[in-house]
Amino acid sequence: MLNILVCVSGGGTNLQAIIDRINDGTIRNAKIVRVISNNKDAYALERAKNAGIDGICVSPKDYENRDKFNEAFLAKVKEAKPDLIVLAGFLVVIPKIMIDEYAGKIINIHPSLIPSFCGTGYYGLKVHEAALERGVKVTGATVHFVDEGTDTGPIILQKAVYIEKGDTPKVLQQRVMEEAEWQILPKAIDMIANGEL
Ligand code: GRF
Repeated sequence: MLNILVCVSGGGTNLQAIIDRINDGTIRNAKIVRVISNNKDAYALERAKNAGIDGICVSPKDYENRDKFNEAFLAKVKEAKPDLIVLAGFLVVIPKIMIDEYAGKIINIHPSLIPSFCGTGYYGLKVHEAALERGVKVTGATVHFVDEGTDTGPIILQKAVYIEKGDTPKVLQQRVMEEAEWQILPKAIDMIANGEL
């Protein structure tokens, strides 16, 4: 059984996809043991509660400096004894101490086809605004391992999504989530949980 810890910051639709795929058996041999949010108002925490999953908030605002936050955050991660850490819409930079402690065991979902539209400053709606601005015909999502860089770790899965005439950033974000993110993140977790990577 793969014990998963999911880190969230916002709506939690990717978390919900993982919960739903575990419940319907699409993701085999895995269990979410804890959800951690840096934002106490994240709806993702509500989703965890509704699913009976331990959900906690560890907010940088509650600590005098980043190092103290990083220590507290890592302690709450270790306490859950995860085999895999999933960053699902998580907007906090993962501290080096955690990257070292969980090398090769942290994955992230990014809403573009890396190496396009990724790196510092490319998150959430900004990614889709940049894709529309550039005029690309195809975008999508990427699941990758997390290393010390931003969106630079080895790529695990990608899925392409066509941009359609008249797309706004919001409409495109929703399509990329529905057609790509909510498909490839559960798939990657199932592959890891069953030694198929
Ligand atoms: C989405 O744009 C996702 O691509 C990115 O974070 C945003 C919110 O995701 N990773 P969620 O609804 O909180 O899962």
